[in-house]
Amino acid sequence: MNSGAQPAPPQASTGSTAAGDGDGRIGRRSVAAIPRHFRHLLALDDFERAARRRLPRPLFGYVSGGVEEERSMRTAATAYDDHVFLPRYFAGVAGVSTATSLLGEEWDAPFGIAPMGLCALMGYRGDLALASAARDARIPMIVSGSSLIPLEEIMAENPRAWFQAYIPTGADRLRALLDRARAAGVETLVVTVDSPVGSNRENNMRSGFSSPLRPSLRLAWDGAVRPRWLFGTFLRTLWRHGIPHFENLYAERGIPIISRSVQREFGGRAHFAWEHFSEIRRLWPGRLVVKGILHPNDARRAVASGADALVISNHGGRQLDGTVAPLHVLPHIRAALPDVPLILDSGIRRGTQVVKALALGADFVLLGRPFNYAATLGQAPCVSYAISILRGEVARTLAQIGLRRTDELSPDNLVPRGPIAPGTFAEPEAPDAQCE
Ligand SMILES: Cc1cc2nc3c(=O)[nH]c(=O)nc-3n(C[C@H](O)[C@H](O)[C@H](O)COP(=O)(O)O)c2cc1C
Repeated sequence: MNSGAQPAPPQASTGSTAAGDGDGRIGRRSVAAIPRHFRHLLALDDFERAARRRLPRPLFGYVSGGVEEERSMRTAATAYDDHVFLPRYFAGVAGVSTATSLLGEEWDAPFGIAPMGLCALMGYRGDLALASAARDARIPMIVSGSSLIPLEEIMAENPRAWFQAYIPTGADRLRALLDRARAAGVETLVVTVDSPVGSNRENNMRSGFSSPLRPSLRLAWDGAVRPRWLFGTFLRTLWRHGIPHFENLYAERGIPIISRSVQREFGGRAHFAWEHFSEIRRLWPGRLVVKGILHPNDARRAVASGADALVISNHGGRQLDGTVAPLHVLPHIRAALPDVPLILDSGIRRGTQVVKALALGADFVLLGRPFNYAATLGQAPCVSYAISILRGEVARTLAQIGLRRTDELSPDNLVPRGPIAPGTFAEPEAPDAQCE
């Protein structure tokens, strides 16, 4: 699927064009309506299984893996099971809509694409595939500071894209990067704070992944046994665009992604403190989002220092092993900051999980890996298809629990898994509250 013309993704069967079609057929899906080559991809987890077969082992390991024993990754993913739905019926759910507003903008779904480095190494021009699918689906896409395609090209593809920066050391470098982002048309800047030092990803060492990649016989073999990736992504990229470089870490071009000797600068962030963030706030006139917050007091501090929104995240379990699940701290951060836009990520794979996060206080969520796999497997059409699957699931879940809009969600739509405490439903609700 990496080369040649791509068919348009199916729309109506997944609920993507009209999440609420007004006649009760929300979410009905039929295999016949899905293009043949997407029929093995019915849920987002299917994309991971397919990408494992497509990508060389070190690259698949880099995308799919977490840090150390992957406890953070598992905790984040399983936290959604700690809450279960209390559906309501005869609630008049015709016309259910997944449209959601965030930071003063309207989006067609309550989820976006998380920033991911190196996407163009997995799928041909991966960042552009993500950007164009997000543009067409009217959802946010965040360009990673570690991406391999110049920010300007991605912004040209999707002028509503956001940009995630790793703060460079040195005031001049910082100012130059922010000036460049501004000139490229970025309005929303995301500053990732959860990487003060490099993470301990043993799986990368075991599988032979490094950044930059070191040419070796083993790496050549890993690529050779994945010919669709080799020809569809790697050689096609080299032939048309040369060796990819880190394009967006600084104002100027960074190091190449393949090199025998060049070292990537990972250090230098350990001394960062909130004063550095305040300096960014002073320099950046647009919307400013802090990504990687887990402690409610850091959330308060970020907002006091000028953040417009927060991403509650454990980086998909890729930085520190054994962290709290983002979903578990979400209600506490919501209680601390009732009016601040909160975005949640890590481990979301289902519409039901999106809806649980929104019910527990998130305004929006992000997903990373599934969209990365989709770009790898079939570029923008496959990303559009993945988006349509998730959007259909969100619409169906809303309708199934008796709601028509995401902003109607509240913690009352959920109970903790397991026996329910006596007295939970002692208060009857006002008669006809459901029938208005
Ligand atoms: C391959 C990959 C690369 C990533 N690169 C970045 C990055 O450059 N900047 C960043 O803030 N987060 C990065 N992340 C973390 C994501 O933005 C996001 O927090 C995480 O993927 C969410 O978890 P999920 O993949 O389970 O949805 C990366 C994640 C993956 C999988």
